[in-house]
Amino acid sequence: MTTPASAQQHLAHIGVVGMAVMGSNLARNFASKGHTVAIYNRSPEKTRAVMEEFGAEGDFIPAETIEEFVASLERPRKAVIMVQAGPATDAVIAQLVDAMDEGDIIIDGGNSLFTDTIRREREVAATGRHFVGAGISGGEEGALRGPSIMPGGPAESWETLGPLLEDIAAKVDGVPCVTHIGPDGAGHFVKMVHNGIEYADMQVIGEAYHLLRYAAGLEPAQIADIFAEWNKGDLDSYLIEITAEVLRQVDARTGQPFIDVIVDAAGQKGTGRWTVKEALDLGVPTTGIGEAVFARALSSALAQREAAHEAGLPAGEVSTLASLGVDTQAFVEDVRRALYASKLVAYAQGFDEINAGSQEHDWGIKPGDLARIWRGGCIIRAKFLDRITEAYERDPELPSLLLDPYFKGELEKGLVDSWRRVVVVATQLGLPVPVFASSLSYYDSLRADRLPAALIQGQRDFFGAHTYRRVDMEGTFHTTWSGEREELSY
Ligand code: 6PG
Repeated sequence: MTTPASAQQHLAHIGVVGMAVMGSNLARNFASKGHTVAIYNRSPEKTRAVMEEFGAEGDFIPAETIEEFVASLERPRKAVIMVQAGPATDAVIAQLVDAMDEGDIIIDGGNSLFTDTIRREREVAATGRHFVGAGISGGEEGALRGPSIMPGGPAESWETLGPLLEDIAAKVDGVPCVTHIGPDGAGHFVKMVHNGIEYADMQVIGEAYHLLRYAAGLEPAQIADIFAEWNKGDLDSYLIEITAEVLRQVDARTGQPFIDVIVDAAGQKGTGRWTVKEALDLGVPTTGIGEAVFARALSSALAQREAAHEAGLPAGEVSTLASLGVDTQAFVEDVRRALYASKLVAYAQGFDEINAGSQEHDWGIKPGDLARIWRGGCIIRAKFLDRITEAYERDPELPSLLLDPYFKGELEKGLVDSWRRVVVVATQLGLPVPVFASSLSYYDSLRADRLPAALIQGQRDFFGAHTYRRVDMEGTFHTTWSGEREELSY
């Protein structure tokens, strides 16, 4: 990296506002790449604490006021906001707009709702400053060592920001996991769907674990070994890797498997829910992500679950794999395949939503680019993202990932048969597999010759004259159901 002249006057290349873990780690990441970094936090104690603990790691310029912070940045000034999404972000943006000049760039690196980003971009652009909503994935560790970054905003800002973001992003085969996603809210939209896929991915892993534990009767440590083994093949991914770690963990207080001392009620901050709400508005069936969000909600409905438990709802008569005549080893392999297939569906649906969002907002997002920048740094990083990149290279207009020759081949190579067996066994044993099952139904719906939607159209026409189309001729039709039942055409 060449040292710009301004650095000699000790100005910062970039600044970070918000010194909670994500913000301070991101600042440290910039510093570790040789950048001078201005840092600021609303309460100065936090900035001082960061300086005390990490100040020696690189060239930081701490500031106690926003004006001091802005004055320490080289032009065009670039400041990344890493504060809580929502009103706190709006407050910092307002302060930065006041203290900055035309051409300066404000970057929101939080998990903001993309519609907020669109609004903010419009408002900030009106003042002559630039606004970039950038999704950043990888958690605390990623922020420090290399996240996957999804910046939106004006292409012009990317020219200035790109090299800095490429410096700190994760690298896979030397390629940085960052690219300009598209204008205004495109980056945060893509990060939102990334999180939706993350929800589905975590849920299918959870369902696989649950079956291995409660259908196959394996212990958490044995299941940890199975996940570690799976991590060497098609399922190789960060989430599978950490699953093995979590399952192997033994609780220090009780000596029990750690998994057994955690309350089984999953939290959520909202990005998965946003993905589903947006999918509903766009009319994209992201059923896997939807079921994953609902599964978290159901898990957290503790009072209702408790009441159902007390009411002793019967589970059915069959209770073990053996009683179904299913071999444990074969079942474990079936579960692996069901997990792989359901995961494929989650990605396929996520990419469908991104394509639909891109069309709706005219963002021009290239799906292959996303698969490339998700290969490293982010929570859903996985080996098979290489395959997704290749799929979109083969056909950028691919109607569904499931139709790419490679993935279609994978499904036909036995995944589907295993998937069906797993859903049947889980259902017979009364074990919930909402994403395995709904993803299989999605797959079957997609490939079906006929769907019951024809009957729905008939019913709609019967009670509300909502009309229907015919398979054998053009036009719109209505049958006079309460009269002569003649067909009228429009
Ligand atoms: C990431 C994560 C990150 C965060 C999730 C957690 O990509 O780094 O997605 O953004 O950990 O938002 O979300 P929930 O609390 O909703 O599970």
